[in-house]
Amino acid sequence: MTKLIDRFSFAERASHWVSAACFLYAMFTGLALWSPRLFWMSGVFGGGETVRAWHPWAGMFFAAALGVMFRRWSAQMRLDADDRVWLAKSHLYAQNIEAGMPESGRFNAGQKMLFWTQTAAALTLVITGIVLWFPESMPRALRLGAILLHPAAASVSIGGIIVHIYMSTIGVPGALQAMVRGRVTAGWARSHHGKWYREVAGR
Ligand code: HEM
Repeated sequence: MTKLIDRFSFAERASHWVSAACFLYAMFTGLALWSPRLFWMSGVFGGGETVRAWHPWAGMFFAAALGVMFRRWSAQMRLDADDRVWLAKSHLYAQNIEAGMPESGRFNAGQKMLFWTQTAAALTLVITGIVLWFPESMPRALRLGAILLHPAAASVSIGGIIVHIYMSTIGVPGALQAMVRGRVTAGWARSHHGKWYREVAGR
């Protein structure tokens, strides 16, 4: 029988999928509010007024779920010396050449960069989002800053998530089952996260 290894606990998977659902809702409704050309999308979510009322709440729930992920993972997301070498050679990884790449721990350097990018973008989105939520109570300079920074942070976040969704579904076969069932095969763990595999398997 294939040996399976625990990768993500139920709490890790739950916070990830809650954040993913809120993110997708906030992304589509945000795009609908952002451009008149995309306003048609608001129809899918109950119309303009509903979208305007729920978009900020989805953003808050997204940030809260990301906060739970931050508490669980931030210590494991620090870059070590091998990660810096990995980043310097990431062009090889992008071409599917793993020979010469340093082994990764529980998360590889690309995943760690995604985590910090999403954290920074979410923080910016929340702060600027609160300003845009209550514009009448905010000074003009803050409103102008928020109008520029909110879509800029959203673009960075959406770009990162497109790469993330591609990598965790098509790019790295087997990764999705880690986030769905919580377990991966020993072979998958060894080939994608060799250092982590040795830690958990005690070899
Ligand atoms: C909606 C589609 C999404 C899918 C299919 C997806 C899939 C996955 C999978 C399979 C993993 C585990 C990778 C592994 O075992 O190495 C993962 C991890 C993770 N996900 Fe997602 N995810 C999605 C959305 C999001 C969103 C919206 C965020 C928001 C910040 C996010 C943040 C993360 C983070 C920080 C990790 C840990 C590091 C990493 O593996 O990149 N994910 N995701």
